[in-house]
Amino acid sequence: MPTGRDPATLTPLEAQAEHAALASEIAEHDRRYHQEDAPTISDAEYDALRRRLEALEAAFPHLKASVSTSVGAAPAGRFAKVRHKVPMLSLGNAMNEAEARDFVDRVKRFLDWPADKPLAITAEPKIDGLSLSLRYERGQLVSAATRGDGAEGEDVTPNIRALMAAPNPTIGILASLPPDAPDIAEIRGEVYLGHADFAALNAKQAETGGKIFANPRNAAAGSLRQLDARVTASRPLRFFAYGWGEMSDSEGKEFRPATTQFGMVETFKRWGFPTSPLMVRCESADDLIAHYRLIERERPTIGYDLDGVVYKVDELALQARLGFVARAPRWAIAHKFPAEKAVTRLNAIEIQVGRTGALTPVAKLEPITVGGVVVSNATLHNADEIARLDARIGDFVVIQRAGDVIPQVVEVVQDRRPVGSQPFEFPTLCPCALKTAVIREATSGGVEGAVRRCSGEFACPHQRIEHLKHFVSRRAFDIEGLGEKQIAFFYDCPVEALRIREPADIFTLQRRNEASLQKIENFEGFGKTSVAKLFAAIEERRSISLERFIFALGIRHVGETTAKVLARAAGEWSAFEAQARRIAAGDAEAIAEFQALDQIGDAVTDAVAEFFTRADAVAMVDRLAGELTILPAEKPAAESPVAGKTVVFTGSLEKMTRDEAKARAESLGAKVAGSVSRKTDLVIAGPGAGSKLEKATELGVKVISEDEWLALVGG
Ligand code: IVH
Repeated sequence: MPTGRDPATLTPLEAQAEHAALASEIAEHDRRYHQEDAPTISDAEYDALRRRLEALEAAFPHLKASVSTSVGAAPAGRFAKVRHKVPMLSLGNAMNEAEARDFVDRVKRFLDWPADKPLAITAEPKIDGLSLSLRYERGQLVSAATRGDGAEGEDVTPNIRALMAAPNPTIGILASLPPDAPDIAEIRGEVYLGHADFAALNAKQAETGGKIFANPRNAAAGSLRQLDARVTASRPLRFFAYGWGEMSDSEGKEFRPATTQFGMVETFKRWGFPTSPLMVRCESADDLIAHYRLIERERPTIGYDLDGVVYKVDELALQARLGFVARAPRWAIAHKFPAEKAVTRLNAIEIQVGRTGALTPVAKLEPITVGGVVVSNATLHNADEIARLDARIGDFVVIQRAGDVIPQVVEVVQDRRPVGSQPFEFPTLCPCALKTAVIREATSGGVEGAVRRCSGEFACPHQRIEHLKHFVSRRAFDIEGLGEKQIAFFYDCPVEALRIREPADIFTLQRRNEASLQKIENFEGFGKTSVAKLFAAIEERRSISLERFIFALGIRHVGETTAKVLARAAGEWSAFEAQARRIAAGDAEAIAEFQALDQIGDAVTDAVAEFFTRADAVAMVDRLAGELTILPAEKPAAESPVAGKTVVFTGSLEKMTRDEAKARAESLGAKVAGSVSRKTDLVIAGPGAGSKLEKATELGVKVISEDEWLALVGG
């Protein structure tokens, strides 16, 4: 294993041993990245390994010859990142017919659409591949990018160009668009591999000793994300266009060549893109379901993998009104095909302790393939679920897997139960070294909840580690080079002075490393450069946005969205902390103010109170805050006349529904409160407004009509 020692101090034998180990480690990471599409280390960690390899080769040039055989034609780098101007979103799921009908009802309610009036919604197959965004400028293809995390994808332009230049191209992507296409046009769709091509590819791989792909989706992803574009070009990848990103005219103004989803896809087809022949326009939930059933029936003969049917509100103007929730549009949903099932043996039940101390039982299974993926773990949710299933170790169980969700145990095969099996006894002590008592949580109504929790809180090492993992996770502090693996290492670092036991420790690590005789760079898996990069990454996060900071604290029920609401309401950390402390002290006014915020109810209030009542938690937060610069919450949409304002809607609205009004106001940066207080900036009162209007008048808060509101926010 790499030692991180200066190569000049190594003997040739030591260098050779380290070099060989490194080379095989890198080869393994290459394999995971390029062939499995499942890297297990970050790009930064990978780069560190390669740099170490190069350092060894620079000091011992004779090692270089051997590497070309052991690492082979390993790529020198990775894909460049591309930031999507318009994020690539995901879709919400409907798992059954009732949920699909709920979607239609929800959309109609949001739009205040008469129940009996037809509403055009399209239905099209959900292709199980990977999404791709193609950017055309003045009619010419300029780049192609994968979805990545939705905000940032990988630049696969050379691969797409190679596919387009293949002898018998199957991809169907256009090099240029007709003259009537907008100046800037991003066409989005799915890259996939047909069943026959997938089978042929695997047969060829088997013959040549190459990697066998688990399913067409993995094969498509693995084929596209090849650093050697020639390999990509040899794979018969296909493409369906179903969406778009940025689209604007030569003045940079948004422009759409059609007014409906269906019309847009027809336009893509007219331009020459492959589009799904199975897309239809429906007018009712019944029609949608009928089309779903049709596609489901046709599924085995379609020739490529589908995992459901996507429904999209047809009118683009209605899509704009509906907008988005989190990372998915409110105007579309994926109606999934039922999950795939398999039977296997339950070998053990492992208890995992989460960040908030919740004990989650995990089924350890005899590995089995379900829908093309090997499954060896499945969730059992909680103790009640184990009891309901009467799952016992040694049982044969039915597991089910739907899309990317964690597989679940759904049933025990009773007649295959081994003799002498015993009901599973849920532990009453935390599996950690402290063996803390497990408590069964009571809900606010006093009813016992399903969750068992370790009562150790920050004393429980499992909780502390999970808490730290959450703290450094991508949506929280997102520290490059400090992932779950490194947290586990630093938590129990053999050198006590270098341990990370709470978030503040991350920010004192460099100082402690400088003062310590034993250095991080001397540990296996670290080198001088990787340590320097880690410290640089930590320094970069020493100033952090308030919303990320609040989210990173890991307060129960305070997810990303809630953290954002809280950050915007408080503006500054000191204001948030002061209010949280008052809430913890039971200050009724602070609680009322807090609960008047949009989306903040009892659960969040209780959790904040509980967190700030704990002396250890407060001290931990104080130590952390002392290390950081917490930036005030950004003022959203500065040009919006209602940005940062607190508004209250009361009475009935006639031109929009309450949900729509609220969503619109929030997208313009306003806070929508449920009650009027001195903090309210504006009350929008419709007919029938009562006590809130009175209160507003009494407090001298500005009151306007719905029409005035629409005029203010631009229709
Ligand atoms: S529309 C704004 N349509 O499913 C909506 N997605 O679960 C964006 N997908 O990332 C997606 N077929 O990779 C849409 N006909 C289809 C699709 C489709 C497959 C994939 C796509 C997306 C994922 C979301």
